[in-house]
Amino acid sequence: MNNTQSTGLIFELSKSGRRCHRLPKCDVPNSARIDQMIPKEYLAKQVLPLPEIGEIDLIRHFTNLSARNMSIDTNFYPLGSCTMKYNPKRHERIAAFPGFANLHPLQDDDTIQGMLELLHSMQEYLAEISGLPAVSLQPAAGAQGELTALFVAAAYFRDKGETHRRKVLVPDSAHGTNPASAALAGFDTITIKSGANGLVDLDDLKSKLGADTAVFMITNPNTLGLFETQIQEITELLHAQGALVYLDGANMNAILGITRPGDFGADMQHYNVHKTFTGPHGGGGPGSGPIAVRDYLAKYLPAPIVVKEGDRFRLNYNMPQSIGRVRSFFGTIGILFRGYCYIRTLGPDGLKQVSEHAVLNANYLRARVSEGYEVPHAGPCMHEFVASARKLLREKKVRAMDVCKRLLDYGFHAPTVYFPMVVSEALMFEPTETESKETLDAFAEVMLKIANEDPEVLRTAPHTHIISRPDEVKAAKEPVLRWTKA
Ligand SMILES: Cc1ncc(COP(=O)(O)O)c(C=O)c1O
Repeated sequence: MNNTQSTGLIFELSKSGRRCHRLPKCDVPNSARIDQMIPKEYLAKQVLPLPEIGEIDLIRHFTNLSARNMSIDTNFYPLGSCTMKYNPKRHERIAAFPGFANLHPLQDDDTIQGMLELLHSMQEYLAEISGLPAVSLQPAAGAQGELTALFVAAAYFRDKGETHRRKVLVPDSAHGTNPASAALAGFDTITIKSGANGLVDLDDLKSKLGADTAVFMITNPNTLGLFETQIQEITELLHAQGALVYLDGANMNAILGITRPGDFGADMQHYNVHKTFTGPHGGGGPGSGPIAVRDYLAKYLPAPIVVKEGDRFRLNYNMPQSIGRVRSFFGTIGILFRGYCYIRTLGPDGLKQVSEHAVLNANYLRARVSEGYEVPHAGPCMHEFVASARKLLREKKVRAMDVCKRLLDYGFHAPTVYFPMVVSEALMFEPTETESKETLDAFAEVMLKIANEDPEVLRTAPHTHIISRPDEVKAAKEPVLRWTKA
């Protein structure tokens, strides 16, 4: 944060001589003192200018800073495609149990039987939910799950002697990680157009599908919040060409217990445990992106996999055709724990209810928001929907970004903006199942109010936040995280 951005918050609190610690008198003998052991040239030449501050001021400073963030615990957070649902606090307590939290990943299998059983169960639950029998818990996020599955596909085609399959087909509505993963895995990406109805254009798919196709990556429901109703026909077309179908499982929150990717023809998929199964995320992680694949692809999964032998569990590294590790140790265990708790708590019927309520909430909000904004694709939607601010742009020169910034003034996190790219001035809302009707109504009222506000107020929003409109690219690529004295 630089000085201009920090207006309103006093950063320079240091006063010489203030302390918030009291150390015991040093009882280390001179001969054992670190400054006696390190060669003089490596020692600090001057006392570091560390802040000197009393405890109460220090606590207030950081508490006030933390309260300037929006989070799912403080604000409605309808960030489309991110499934910002409530993260039950019970999961935090369980994940912190010393029996789990204090394990070391290098411990012998015999001493971590409980943990291995839990991971093994998680593998089985994810297999059952997807209808795809073999699971790797290793990938650390959805994007890494995509990449891992594409490595698996490459190994499969290599074994079959079909290295001419160089192409990965990706719909134009797909998340950017799909083409990025395909490129990183060494494939050529071919874009498939969406039709006017927002679904995959079958004619375009047929014209680009061929003997050189390796994988079709599809998101279902897609990023417009629409179920790809032709999915069965699509998967049959791909299979007839000997290609594989990959399901981007970021939108599993819409279909849990209702339909299974394996049943509608997907051969591989990833989960975003941090979205669908309540891992706390946002602010950069941590993620967990396990993949599930068909049985004939199991041998290529990253090793190790947890296996059960009698009533014992062990990590199986003996997988000669495995693509190798994609992450250290066994995956993002802490997030997998939380997902495990969630699945066990809800059970099959509860998970189905989650999706039913997520879809209901999205359709309710869609109906309310469409009173003031265009919603380009016909409903009903699945767990999210995409509206457009293009009418505001046409009539008032107000952009989707201005609407998002203004929402912050009213205490709501913004929706996803300018994605998917097939909708101009896109605003993508995903309310999730955990929000009440009152919250959805309050949000809808604000959206409608904003549509009628003074354009200048919108263009200069937010008016209540210290950081208002940072350079979005630089904020991510060259963040200034330290305050410096002017
Ligand atoms: C549709 C879709 N696919 C893939 C991803 C990538 O997932 P992750 O952020 O866990 O890497 C996202 C993330 O937002 C997404 O929305």
